[in-house]
Amino acid sequence: MTVYLNGQFMPIEEARIPVLDRGFIFGDGIYEVIPAYSRHVFRLTEHLRRLQYSLDGIRLPNPHSNQEWTGIINDLIKRNEAEDQYIYLHITRGVAKRDHAFPNPLVQPTIFIMSSPLVTPPVELLASGVRAITAPDNRWLRCDIKATSLLPNVLLRQMAIDAGCSETILIRDNEFMTEGAASNIFLVKNDVLLAPPKDHFMLPGITYDVILEIATTNNIRYEIRRIGKEELSSPDELLLTSSTKEVLAITTLDNQPVGSGKPGAMFTRLHKLYQDYKQDVMRKTS
Ligand code: PDD
Repeated sequence: MTVYLNGQFMPIEEARIPVLDRGFIFGDGIYEVIPAYSRHVFRLTEHLRRLQYSLDGIRLPNPHSNQEWTGIINDLIKRNEAEDQYIYLHITRGVAKRDHAFPNPLVQPTIFIMSSPLVTPPVELLASGVRAITAPDNRWLRCDIKATSLLPNVLLRQMAIDAGCSETILIRDNEFMTEGAASNIFLVKNDVLLAPPKDHFMLPGITYDVILEIATTNNIRYEIRRIGKEELSSPDELLLTSSTKEVLAITTLDNQPVGSGKPGAMFTRLHKLYQDYKQDVMRKTS
């Protein structure tokens, strides 16, 4: 596996960062996850826009122009074998003497990018859907920043794994649903797709946007609004989205079947439309 570290490509085994990197010491950095299908980067403009948003959120100057990022990412994809890949792009506030305050003067940020083969969910999982649990959302109030300091998300996701599930759906203030520990969540009721608003309580997912665009184009009714905790007790369907999982049905929540307990009509439709959309985008960029 070839990775990119601070201007150089190298085998992952050779990539090293100093122990005083602020990403290691404070989790002081941000990241992006970008899929590439048939070596075409998916929605790069949108991912780079969110990267800029996260950098602005932590007051870290962007070390590259979008053109430079595009060059680096495409070069990395070329150097790796798989046709479908996903890119993890990490930027930290660099290496400095340990102090919570920003280094003064600023130091070079650390930039690490790696690519892994992208394996989208297998047909069995698409057919069965996944299990999820709910838990209080105990994260901070800037969940719109894609920060590397993911300890709450790590602990929340592990709760799901310990319960034999795939994801934890988060409930803020015992009142409303925000998102999953590593995904966005949609609810379906009476043929209407319900999406939580993109605010500081959730990460504005790139896949979330694709789903709503697809819904608009295909006359699928949707509403963007707060989803009350009580609405989770009787949804027709629950859907999970992320760049690596695309769209999946959640068929069991807190040990209870969701709707019929099988992936529903909205999931089947959106999954098909998502695959069509991907093909379409890839055709246009090739
Ligand atoms: N996670 N919300 C959270 C907390 C996430 O971590 C993710 C994605 C999403 C979905 O965003 P997108 O559609 O842009 O992938 C929502 C990625 C896959 C990760 O951190 O590995």
